[in-house]
Amino acid sequence: MSEFPIQRLRRLRRTEVLRHLVRETRLSVSDLVYPLFVVPGRRIKEEISSMPGQFRFSIDTLVKECEEVARLGIPGVLLFGIPEAKDEVGSGAYARNGITQRAVRAVKKSVPDLLVITDVCLCEYTSHGHCGVIVNGEVDNDKTLDLLAKTALSHVQAGADIVAPSDMMDGRVAAIRDILDEGGLSNIPIMAYSAKYASAFYGPFREAAESTPQFGDRQGYQMDPPNIREALREVEQDVLEGADMVMVKPALPYLDVIARVRATFDLPLAAYNVSGEYAMVKAAARNGWLDGERVTMEVLTAIKRAGADIIITYHAKEVAEFIRSAG
Ligand code: PBG
Repeated sequence: MSEFPIQRLRRLRRTEVLRHLVRETRLSVSDLVYPLFVVPGRRIKEEISSMPGQFRFSIDTLVKECEEVARLGIPGVLLFGIPEAKDEVGSGAYARNGITQRAVRAVKKSVPDLLVITDVCLCEYTSHGHCGVIVNGEVDNDKTLDLLAKTALSHVQAGADIVAPSDMMDGRVAAIRDILDEGGLSNIPIMAYSAKYASAFYGPFREAAESTPQFGDRQGYQMDPPNIREALREVEQDVLEGADMVMVKPALPYLDVIARVRATFDLPLAAYNVSGEYAMVKAAARNGWLDGERVTMEVLTAIKRAGADIIITYHAKEVAEFIRSAG
């Protein structure tokens, strides 16, 4: 090992072509998954106020959006359904003709090569806004498992390529794996939201998906933000239950968790750059306080550098354009 003045690290930073040659992390369009919200109705494309540039789509406009997403080279979308009606047990989540099931059928029909991942959870479908069934004022884990499994099965029967349980009940990956296998669907992968924290960064999403809990909060099932060893236990459980891919969520405030999960497990790792992370960047860029494009690329590259293979992000479409124009 030599040192200064023999070593000069600035030598490889002098020009863009040199920097490009020695760049360690490259963000690619093929890393990205685009989340989309679907609502009942026709010709609807309404902007979500806290997420500029993101919309709630009816199925007809969603299909058009998915065609554009595929044209941009983005490999997949993550669908969230917002039903016409909610009830105590979230029946709309597992209805054969529910909003997500209809949307999946329509998208797969028009854009068969686009990967359709569905979020499996009850919170958008329950009148109380929690991710499971309430018994004595609490979310009952084991009663919820059957409903989540039925939800996942109905998504796959509608044509979903991958199911992504986001509820944080214990045992849900195994329950979903069982019902899919019994139904002859052993080839469908599960992307588990394994280390999902009880985060304030989901605020804008809850406005978009109308899924704010009507009482209490989600701290009794989502993870406590200060914990990282527990994240490894969550991932390990999901792997043992048969998860094919695991996820850390949110992404930017949890880069250390992404890096630890990457170092400990060999499965494909997804990171969810959530609604609040998106809203912060957009708000600052709109005020002229940050360069939105550069900050977006820096954030997503950092998530990849920390170890994520797949980045779920509301920035996916704009990033596809940035990458293309950068050549
Ligand atoms: C549903 C779900 C949430 C998100 C993804 N799936 C909200 C929550 O848990 O409250 C958040 C996504 C985002 O903020 O972008 N359980």
